[in-house]
Formats: sequence, structure tokens, C-alpha cells
Amino acid sequence: MFIYPKIYRKLRRGPQVILPKDIGIIISYSGVDKNSVCVDAGTGSGWLAVSLARVCKEVYSYDMRDDFLAIAEKNRGMLNLDNLTLKNGDVTKKIDEKDVDLVTLDLPGSDKALSNAKKALKPDGCVVGYLPHMEQVKDFVGKLNSLKFHDVHTVEVIVRDIMVREEGVRPSTKGIWHTAYLVFAKKESE
Ligand SMILES: C[S@@+](CC[C@H](N)C(=O)[O-])C[C@H]1O[C@@H](n2cnc3c(N)ncnc32)[C@H](O)[C@@H]1O
Repeated sequence: MFIYPKIYRKLRRGPQVILPKDIGIIISYSGVDKNSVCVDAGTGSGWLAVSLARVCKEVYSYDMRDDFLAIAEKNRGMLNLDNLTLKNGDVTKKIDEKDVDLVTLDLPGSDKALSNAKKALKPDGCVVGYLPHMEQVKDFVGKLNSLKFHDVHTVEVIVRDIMVREEGVRPSTKGIWHTAYLVFAKKESE
């Protein structure tokens, strides 16, 4: 069993969270860094939001449920992340921020937030959809294409734990397999 870094062992969980294996690739493939501004939705327990805030300049995270925002607020406070702003809002209706580097979407019907994600992103900014089912991937990619996003790339991250023992070294039969597909895309340049 993989031992998560201490911060993830301390974080509270409400709704299903994005796990470190997927968080890692979201950060590396999107290319965000200490100068980046990000929008995240839905906040849920805030696992992705706090992870982005640990490496980026500013993060704005939206959820429609105050009870989930309260869990994320506890996680934000525990890590002293002053650069993470939690907002109550429906991202299919509105995203306030403009010229952001990254928009992450982990909510039912993420494709319905893509028009607003496009308005919020700077040219060549990155959107990431975290989508548990292939049917969602099809809808999401269809919408990306109709909105003229480019460099559309879909991946699944599978981590295999390896058991290192005297009697033999081989992959474990346990572990986390499917969590979600990740779709990355860039907004067109101006
Ligand atoms: C699976 S959770 C997100 C988990 C989060 N990414 C994490 O790493 O902890 C999905 C969240 O999306 C929120 N949500 C659903 N529809 C939404 C919308 N239209 N705008 C904002 N948040 C929404 C839900 O309330 C729920 O908290």
C-alpha cells in the first residue's frame, strides 16, 4: 500500500477526492507553477484545490454546497493556504476570473462548464476534465472540439504497487486501479 505524504493523511474527506496519482499528472501536464492562477470546480473536499495552491500563485475553487466548502475550508486552514479562495457558485452559470492559466473540472456534467472555462482562460491556457466514465469523456471531447480547443489529450493513470519479497518480486493484486480519465486541452491562441 502506497504511503501518501503526510499532508494527504491529515486532510479531511467528504465527497470523493482526486488522489495524488492523478493530482501529480494534472500539475505536470498542465505546466502550472508559482506564477500560475487557477480555477478549480467542484471543490468537494478540496484535495485538488489545496494541492494546486501549494504550487501555484492563486487558486479560486467553486462549489455549490456549503457543507463541502466547509470541509475544504478546514483543509485550507490546516495548511495555511492564503492563496486559496473558496467560492460558492455554479460554474456552469458563471466563472468570475479572467486570464487564468488552468481550469480544472471535477463535477457531474463537466462539459457544461466548458464555455465558461474558455472565457476564463488566457490564450493557450489549459483545461483539465476529471471524468470517471468513458461516455463523459466522449461528451467532453466533443464539446472541446466544438469550442475549438486544441492539443486534446486523454489519459488514465494506473499505478501498480510492486511487492518486493524474498519469495519473489511482482505486482500486488491489490491497489487503486480506475479512478477517472483525465482530458487535457488548450484554449486557442489569439
Ligand atoms: C467529486 S467532488 C470534487 C472533489 C474534489 N475535486 C477534490 O479533489 O476533493 C464534486 C463536487 O462538485 C460539486 N459540483 C457539482 N456541480 C457543480 C457546479 N455546477 N458548480 C460547482 N460545483 C459543482 C459538488 O457539490 C461536489 O462537491
